This record gives sequence, structure tokens and C-alpha cells, in this order.
Amino acid sequence: MIVTTKDLFKVAYGKFAIGAYNINNAEQCMGLFKGNVDSKAPFIIQISKGARKYINKLMLEGIIRASGEIFPDAVFAVHLDHGDEATCYDCIESGFYSSVMIDASGESFEKNVEITKRVVAAAHKKGISVEAELGKLGGVEEHVSVAEGDAKLTNPEDAEKFVKLSGCDCLACAIGTSHGAFKFSGSQSLHFDVLEQIQKRLPGFPLVMHGSSSVPQDEVARINAAGGSLKGAKGVDADQFLKASHLGVTKINIDTDGRLVWTRVHREFFKQHPEKFDLRDPGTIFIDEYAKFIAAKNVKLGSAGTLAEVKKVLGK
Ligand code: G3H
Ligand code: 13P
Ligand code: ZN
Repeated sequence: MIVTTKDLFKVAYGKFAIGAYNINNAEQCMGLFKGNVDSKAPFIIQISKGARKYINKLMLEGIIRASGEIFPDAVFAVHLDHGDEATCYDCIESGFYSSVMIDASGESFEKNVEITKRVVAAAHKKGISVEAELGKLGGVEEHVSVAEGDAKLTNPEDAEKFVKLSGCDCLACAIGTSHGAFKFSGSQSLHFDVLEQIQKRLPGFPLVMHGSSSVPQDEVARINAAGGSLKGAKGVDADQFLKASHLGVTKINIDTDGRLVWTRVHREFFKQHPEKFDLRDPGTIFIDEYAKFIAAKNVKLGSAGTLAEVKKVLGK
């Protein structure tokens, strides 16, 4: 059943984090639902602008609605990931999304506030919540490219001002992570000191951690052994998720890790079976492997096993 992102945050805040997973196709969607239902966890489905372009926004909606029927025990919210203003309005108008992210983090503080405020006004009229971003993550996003050296951690004082001025419902903070498979090329790690200061200034306010894939080294090794070439790929230590959740991080975004599972399964399958060409063979393995990956990740997030409590609190 689709619930509001706000409700999920109410249940999770300070205790655990909700996994926010990106999808682009039906196999990912099936694996995602299966993994969350198997591990009894609520979750957020993320749709990026790139996903809406790749497979058509209506196709994604259809796949998600169908998955909700196939897995009636699932409790989830649907979220636009890294939206621009026009895409936010399109999602708000569609009536399908629980929440949208307006990513104006590439703009000046003032312009970011101005744009976010407009999106908040439109979204709140329809009961939809808004995630905004302040600070700059390293790595590459669809429309923003930030050299690692330019990555800018969120300033706690600015974060407090930004939330008050913009009226956003949750805030993506830059605390040392970056998007993609190549995080922490030097000796970087999560900046819990910054997170602590942000939480002190915004007690009870849900924070979001983007760029949170762990880039498991065994996954990378298997991909490379099967013909891939991912050198120096490195991610976030999943054992730090719970500590982050106790400091207000209520939504943790994971996309790259799912792509790695897909790549490993397909590379290994076709290496081992060069004579095969039925896409359903590796597809079936992928759905199962992705479900297992999601269930294990939810344990790290602390969301595994919380479904009964979440349903009770939400009166579902
Ligand atoms: O943060 C970006 C997400 O991983 C989505 O990636 O824009 O390539 O779909 P995408
Ligand atoms: P990863 O690239 O670490 O999976 O981050 C995904 C993300 O932040 C989506 O918004
Ligand atoms: Zn992101």
C-alpha cells in the first residue's frame, strides 16, 4: 500500500532509516518489493528524471501499481529523486507521488530557497511532502557535475535557516558522501560532527543521506572477474547507517549498489552461458539476488522487521 513519506518519517525518526531505492525497470521493481516484504520493512521507491525518460513515467507508475497488488503486504512511498522545478510540478499534478525532491543545490542559497518555496507551496496544497538539498555532494548527478574537490559539506547554521525559510519537509545534507561507485577516493568518510550540529539546530527534522551505496568489494571483484573494469570503486560503510539514523538521518538513498547487482548477475550469467540468449534466465536470477540484497541492506538500516509496528502506528 502506498503511504505518505511524512508518515514513514514519523515512525522511523531517531530509531532507524528508511531505505530509498531507485528503480528503472520491472525486474528491479519485483526484486525491490520481494526484498522488502521478505525482510518486513517499509521502503521508499525513487524515480529519477533519468528513469522517467528511460522507460516512460507511465510505465513506471504501472509497474509500481502492479507490484503493490502482487505484494499486498508492502508498505511504501513513491518519491521523485533529484527533480527540477518542472518535473516536481508534473509529479505533484499526477497524484501518484508521495513526495518530491527539488534539487536546486547548484543554485545560490537565496535562489535555492526561492525555488524550493514555490515547490513546497504547490506540493503542500496536494498533501505531498518536499525534500530539498543544501550543500554539494561529490560525484556526478544527472544534471549537476561536481568535482570531488568542490564537494561542499552542508553548513549547519545555513541548514537551519534554509529549512525555516523554504518550508521543506526534509533536507538532503552533504556530509561526505558522493553519488556513484567511486566515493572516498582519499581518506574521506562520513562527517558525523557536521550531522550532529545539524541535528542540534533541527531537532526532530528528518535528514536525508544521498550517495549511500556501499559498493561491496566482493561485488566489484566478481564484476571484474567476469569481464568488467571497475577500478578503485569504493562506498559507504553500511555499519554507519544506524549511527546516522540516531542523528536524524531518516532516509538513506541507494541506487548504485542495485546497478552493481544487475551488472554482476548479467556478466556472470553470459560468461558462464555464452550460448544462451533468453533475457528471462538472468532476469530471474537478478530478481532473486536483488531481493536478497535489499533484505540485507534493510538489516543495516534498522528498517527490517519494523513493518508490523509501522502498520500499527499508521493505523493500516
Ligand atoms: O542520484 C542519482 C541517482 O542515482 C539516479 O541516477 O539520474 O542516473 O537515474 P540517474
Ligand atoms: P548512490 O549512487 O550511492 O547509490 O546514491 C544514490 C542516490 O543518492 C540517489 O538519489
Ligand atoms: Zn542522490
